[in-house]
Amino acid sequence: MTFSNTAILGLQWGDEGKGKIVNYLASNFGAACRYQGGHNAGHTLIVDGKKIVLHLLPSSICHKDSLSLIGKGVVISYEALFSEIEEISNFTSGITDRLKISPACVLIQPYHQLIDLYKEKSNSQKTIGTTLRGIGPAYEDKVARRAIRVIDTLNENHLKPLLEETLDFYNFTIEKFFGKEALSLNRLIDENLAYGEKIKPMLADVSMLIKKINSEEKSVLFEGAQGALLDVDQGTYPFVTSSNCSPSGIAAGAGCGPLDVGNILGVVKAYVTRVGEGPMPTEINDELGEYIAKTGGEIGATTGRPRRCGWFDAVLMKRIIQTNSISGLCLTKIDVLDGLEEIKVCKAYDNESIDSIFGECMNLEDINPIYDFLPGWESPTKNITKYEELPNEAKDFVSYIEENCEVPVKIISTGPDDQSTIVR
Ligand code: GDP
Ligand code: IMO
Ligand code: MG
Repeated sequence: MTFSNTAILGLQWGDEGKGKIVNYLASNFGAACRYQGGHNAGHTLIVDGKKIVLHLLPSSICHKDSLSLIGKGVVISYEALFSEIEEISNFTSGITDRLKISPACVLIQPYHQLIDLYKEKSNSQKTIGTTLRGIGPAYEDKVARRAIRVIDTLNENHLKPLLEETLDFYNFTIEKFFGKEALSLNRLIDENLAYGEKIKPMLADVSMLIKKINSEEKSVLFEGAQGALLDVDQGTYPFVTSSNCSPSGIAAGAGCGPLDVGNILGVVKAYVTRVGEGPMPTEINDELGEYIAKTGGEIGATTGRPRRCGWFDAVLMKRIIQTNSISGLCLTKIDVLDGLEEIKVCKAYDNESIDSIFGECMNLEDINPIYDFLPGWESPTKNITKYEELPNEAKDFVSYIEENCEVPVKIISTGPDDQSTIVR
């Protein structure tokens, strides 16, 4: 079977099961490419029965015949990258031969992580509940045009004045604003140069590599991190991450043309989850929410924080699907709803604000959902691999999502491992 370039990205608030789907599909592609975010992501795969959680490495990393690309839109913490490579080398060999990284990636420096922490811990009204990985401050530096990029760490004469100026700025903030101890310039220079040497063999012109892979009649899988509702432009601002995790970020972050993105598949859970602060209209605040969280193992793969759970929100999904050229869905975790007598799906809101200028701003604070009630299914869906074998009520749930979101459900996931997948 031949595939065109395909994007797999989350349409909710992250953790939809992107890692499982990318790992499942990767052997059909020449490469998978991360294009935004950083080690705030936590993508879980089951490989040879073992659970692996990836933060920066693309979810294709265990496929020896595919390349794994990190495009220029990703923010890299050297420390996180190299400790992840070391950890994952316990599961698969040859990572550094298959991993190709853009030298244009912006680096997350220790001062970014400190600023993220201080901002979140100060008693401000605007706690976002970030992953404390320094993601927002690193992207701030990028748009302020003062970021240190991977390429800057390859040459001492180039790096020194750059870091000196940037650290002056940050140390002033760290000392005067947060009352903490300044960071040492020499130490930072040494660390960055050492990591620069280490990353050099993996650097590549990722943009041209994508072209080359396509010219060899192979395709590229673009792997999103986070989800469209956490996108800095399309999400529930300010409770979002600092990158474009929706399709608009792919071309810029991978370094290809918009028409090279190809087919765009959105990953959605059969319910919704959210980690951190921010509105979530269909949140379930009772024991049922706790039951779903427990059954679905809804604990953050990066920070270990509990994920808030809610019912599937077809209103939000339809809007995101319509405005993001989504051609199909991968519906995950339907098995988590096994055994429920009744399943709710949000079909409308009690006011029209989502269809007004408030919708453009994703202003979801004062909204109450109106639900459709669908019957649950008596026999389990867990680990089913054929659509025909799903109980009728589960098929009706899938049809309901297709009708209300106006796109086909192309893949259904019935368990965390690869085998538990239905392709339609
Ligand atoms: P990602 O960030 O989108 O890659 O998702 P995470 O890895 O953070 O969270 C998804 C969780 O659900 C992981 O623990 C997966 O192993 C698990 N998972 C993925 N698909 C399914 C599924 O269909 N059923 C069940 N029960 N678990 C799943
Ligand atoms: P994956 O790729 C779920 C959330 C954080 C916080 C907000 C901003 O595994 O789906 P940040 O550290 O990015 O500045 O935090 O975004 N967040 C995620 N939530 N899954 C993720 O990644 C997330 N990455 C960031 O919880 O609310
Ligand atoms: Mg995750």
